[in-house]
Amino acid sequence: MKILANLPDSFRASAVELFLDSLGEKIIPAMGKRGRAEALLAKALNGQACFLAVEGSRLLGMIGLNTSQSLFVQAGLTDFVRNAGFFRSLWTLPILGAMEHASAADELYIEMIAVSPEARGKGVGRALMQEAEQRCRKLGKNRLTLQVVDTNPRAKKLYEEMGFRTIKTYSVQPWGRIVGWTFRKVDFMEKRL
Ligand SMILES: CC(C)(COP(=O)(O)OP(=O)(O)OC[C@H]1O[C@@H](n2cnc3c(N)ncnc32)[C@H](O)[C@@H]1OP(=O)(O)O)[C@@H](O)C(=O)NCCC(=O)NCCS
Repeated sequence: MKILANLPDSFRASAVELFLDSLGEKIIPAMGKRGRAEALLAKALNGQACFLAVEGSRLLGMIGLNTSQSLFVQAGLTDFVRNAGFFRSLWTLPILGAMEHASAADELYIEMIAVSPEARGKGVGRALMQEAEQRCRKLGKNRLTLQVVDTNPRAKKLYEEMGFRTIKTYSVQPWGRIVGWTFRKVDFMEKRL
């Protein structure tokens, strides 16, 4: 396995697929159709704000990172509305916005992490988290943060083992149900470095 500190064009399509296969439960219902989310992400993924785990031409995993100055998903309001449609955006954008996290200057925020199903349980996720931690130190930031939903105990276990602790839990219901989300609560976790 090799870790890349960017997103080469040759991996862009599989990165979008991995993103939506693993974490589409948040974004696909909000946009109505998977194809719309694919179109948005294909343009919006910031290749300088991620690490990839690859084996030959196969994408094993990916971690996307936000700072106060750069985002992994660089989609503006107009990009979202263009892909999701005006009327859908009217009601889904405020709900999605409530889950958005604006990073502080001392913080590196993990926007997403995903490992392809056949590569899970082999240490890829842990290796990507360790890259994020090193990046955080290199940037001179002292907090690595993320959010995890209550239907994902496996991911939460990994974060706890790596030294993260929950500093805030908030509910996304009942309004999350309007979008089609099945998770009810979100933990905001932090690791101080
Ligand atoms: C969460 C995820 C990124 C973990 O990646 P991974 O490569 O499978 O994780 P690793 O192999 O590095 O395992 C790290 C830890 O995860 C946990 N874990 C791994 N496989 C597990 C399994 N089958 N069941 C339960 N926990 C498991 C263990 O705590 C493991 O620690 P250990 O190696 O000491 O046993 C991966 O499961 C995934 O992509 N899930 C779907 C997307 C997702 O949920 N992303 C996180 C959003 S917050």
